[in-house]
Amino acid sequence: MKLSKRLERVASYVPDNSDLIDVGCDHALLDIYLYNNRKNIRILASDINEKPLSIARENIKKHGLEDKIKVILNDGINNIPSNIDTIVISGMGGVLISDILSDKNNLKNIKNIILCPNNDFPIVRKILNKNNFQIIKEELLTEKNITYLIIKAIPGKNNKINYFFGSLSNKDLEVIYYYTKLLNTNTNILKKLPKKYLLKKIKLKFENKRIKSFLEKH
Ligand SMILES: C[S@@+](CC[C@H](N)C(=O)[O-])C[C@H]1O[C@@H](n2cnc3c(N)ncnc32)[C@H](O)[C@@H]1O
Repeated sequence: MKLSKRLERVASYVPDNSDLIDVGCDHALLDIYLYNNRKNIRILASDINEKPLSIARENIKKHGLEDKIKVILNDGINNIPSNIDTIVISGMGGVLISDILSDKNNLKNIKNIILCPNNDFPIVRKILNKNNFQIIKEELLTEKNITYLIIKAIPGKNNKINYFFGSLSNKDLEVIYYYTKLLNTNTNILKKLPKKYLLKKIKLKFENKRIKSFLEKH
C-alpha cells in the first residue's frame, strides 16, 4: 500500500512495540501501513465522526485486518485504555490538537506523542511543554500547498524552548520555504489591514521581525 509522503513521514516516527491510538484516523491508511510495517504493534484507530470510521472499517476489511486493528468512535484521548503508550494526531489544526492534549490526566501512561498539525505550530509546542513532554524531533513538510509540522515528544522537560521555531533549522529548504511564504503573506496582510486593527498590525510586524532575523541567522 502506498501512503502519501506526509503520512509516510508521520509513520516513520512510530516505533516498533507500540500500543498506539491514531486520533482522527479518517481513512485509517496510516494504521494499515503501520500494522504491516512495524513489529509487535497494537493499533486503535479512532475518530469523532461515524462517516470516516465507516471508511476506515472498509479499508481495514479490504486489507484483511479486521481482527488486528480496533476501530472506535471517540472524542480525542478521553477514556482511552490504560495500555495505550503512543498517541498519533495528524492532519488537524494546532488549536484542536492542543485542546485534545489539554488534560494532563489523559497522558499518564504515554511514552510517545507524534503530531502533525497543519497550522498554529507554536500552540502545539506550548501544550507539549506545559504537560511535561519534551520535543525530540521535528520537521516541516509541504504537501498540496499546505505546510505541516511533524513532531515527536516524549516525557521530560525542555529547559529552553522557542515556541515559534522550535528546533527547526534555517538551513533546511522546507523551513526556508515556509517562513519566506509566511513573511510574504504577513506583509500582504499588513498592506491591506485597516488602521483600526492596531494590535493585529503590531503582532504581524513583530512576527515578521522574528522571521527575518531567524532566516538571516548564521
Ligand atoms: C483531515 S482528517 C486527518 C486524517 C489523517 N489523520 C491524516 O493525517 O491524513 C481529520 C480527522 O479528525 C477527526 N477529528 C476531528 N476532531 C476530532 C476529535 N476531537 N477526536 C477524534 N477525531 C477527531 C475528523 O473527523 C477527521 O476524520
